[in-house]
Amino acid sequence: MADVVLSNVNKVFGTFTAVDGLNLDIRQGEFVSLLGPSGCGKTTTLRMLAGLEFPSGGEIRIGDRMVNDLAPGQRDIAMVFQSYALYPHMSVGQNIAYPLKKRGVAKAERTAMVAKTAEMLQLTPLLNRKPRELSGGQQQRVALGRALVRDPKVFLLDEPLSNLDAKLRGYMRAELIELHQRLGRTMVYVTHDQLEAMTMSDRIAVMESGKLQQFAPPQVVYREPANRFVASFIGTPGMNIVDGELLQENGRWIFQSQGFSVDAPNLGPDAQSGAAAMGIRPEGLSIGTGPIEGVVQLVEQTGHENIVVARVGDGLRMTGRTNPDQPVRAGETIKLSIDANKAHFFAEGATGKRLNKAAATSDGPAKSQSALKEATS
Ligand SMILES: Nc1ncnc2c1ncn2[C@@H]1O[C@H](COP(=O)(O)OP(=O)(O)O)[C@@H](O)[C@H]1O
Ligand SMILES: [Mg+2]
Repeated sequence: MADVVLSNVNKVFGTFTAVDGLNLDIRQGEFVSLLGPSGCGKTTTLRMLAGLEFPSGGEIRIGDRMVNDLAPGQRDIAMVFQSYALYPHMSVGQNIAYPLKKRGVAKAERTAMVAKTAEMLQLTPLLNRKPRELSGGQQQRVALGRALVRDPKVFLLDEPLSNLDAKLRGYMRAELIELHQRLGRTMVYVTHDQLEAMTMSDRIAVMESGKLQQFAPPQVVYREPANRFVASFIGTPGMNIVDGELLQENGRWIFQSQGFSVDAPNLGPDAQSGAAAMGIRPEGLSIGTGPIEGVVQLVEQTGHENIVVARVGDGLRMTGRTNPDQPVRAGETIKLSIDANKAHFFAEGATGKRLNKAAATSDGPAKSQSALKEATS
């Protein structure tokens, strides 16, 4: 059942369109991330869901109600912001109790609800402390507690982990996933961090310039990016994307670029001869043998693998992964090959549409066409 639905939602500030014809259908209990670069309209979208900003056009539904004209307090949602905005003069317990107090919940009931929430977030021993006596992670948990205490139908979270250091962020990510599983509540999570979106979400809505680019589960977004923008935004190190052209030779499609050509299998009906781009993830590039010659510019050791950046032809940089036992050094000339079955092909342009059908992957059959359809809605 759909829980949060945006139909053709627009937001215009003056003459600037921040959100452009957004359609999203979020299921009850789903964890959905809004992912995209800074300024793409994520916060504006969340604020419209919260009722802090009103859409210039379109319709927003939460549950079975049209909420376009409802004030935040009438929407049965809770929002957690990037800055925790805790009240410094209040204790942890008072901060968590605040939304209940504002609603006139009686003291005894309030105390019980705060105790239950604190227990869930392991804040019980800290209830009497002031925010300044807490670590960043603990403060963020109090902010979460303030949102949880009312047991709202939908949680809206705007980059809640971005003020934490990397290690704590990883820890809180796991805590949030667990919390979502335990509560079974719908969560809409805004982030510009693709790793956060990939690891936490049931589905990711990738946005760029106010427009939805793809709405699909993490694996679909990774393996079958709807267009060049999504392909380049998801994954670290990022997908290698090479400009070139598609041409047909003896009934077969070939992609040709400066210095090399590869087969372009599985092209769909939208493929045309002419300018196009090929994408290959670092793991689709083999280093050691192959028809492409490159000069190693950089070897990054992560411990369990090496990331190798090589210069190919005239200024093209290709990134691959190698086993740390495979000796590759900066300055060395190496051979590369592209696994054509793992290559993606895109129409010309920054958001050029994906041209190939779902590629077969080593760990299972190709995604169904229905998944692809959903992915590119
Ligand atoms: N109140 C506002 N007035 C004018 N422009 C705004 C306002 N709020 C947001 N914007 C603009 O809308 C765009 C999207 O902003 P935002 O939704 O905050 O992006 P994100 O959260 O994805 O970084 C940005 O270009 C931003 O400058
Ligand atoms: Mg934002």
